[in-house]
Amino acid sequence: MTLDLYKYVASIPDYPEKGIIFRDILPLMANGKAFKQATDELVAYAKDKQVDMVVGPEARGFIVGCPIARELQVGFAPARKKGKLPRKAISSTYKLEYGTATLQMEADSIKPGQRVLVVDDLLATGGTISATIDMVERMGGKVVGCAFLIELKDLHGREKIKDYDMEALMEF
Ligand code: PRP
Ligand code: HPA
Repeated sequence: MTLDLYKYVASIPDYPEKGIIFRDILPLMANGKAFKQATDELVAYAKDKQVDMVVGPEARGFIVGCPIARELQVGFAPARKKGKLPRKAISSTYKLEYGTATLQMEADSIKPGQRVLVVDDLLATGGTISATIDMVERMGGKVVGCAFLIELKDLHGREKIKDYDMEALMEF
């Protein structure tokens, strides 16, 4: 039976700031069948892309990206929030829907020519995913797709990644 994944997203008004409706995917992750269906659907999107590595930004990009990497039987490289990586790292700074942040990846985590699927829970303004793509490309990786559970249409993140193939399972 196919589940309606929208039923597993909670909408919280005025969080973390007044005027923002926060779309919370933790109820989806808390339901084994819904989480499996969601990650299976993103695996199906990526299946024919000959992906070598999955990359996801901290923190919820890890949760969505790792089961996809495992199913595709490829590695996972995290894009971490600044100051967490012990070895040589590269950085990219970006704007969030609220505030700014810097992401970092270990400088050798993508090899030149590798085909990379970039995964996150949610596309909002596109700042996070653009910073992640920027680092992958500076290491010589080729981004072959961007996969999300949710796209927030009003924030137009899709325009920032219009040169890339993308899939989002739900739209708000
Ligand atoms: C959220 C979300 C995406 C990003 C989307 O992460 O998980 O990564 O914002 O926003 P954008 O498209 O406007 O960049 P957040 O930075 O809040 O980190 P978290 O996963 O650690 O909560
Ligand atoms: N929900 C979850 N994460 C987010 C959101 C949201 O609405 N906007 C930016 N990151």
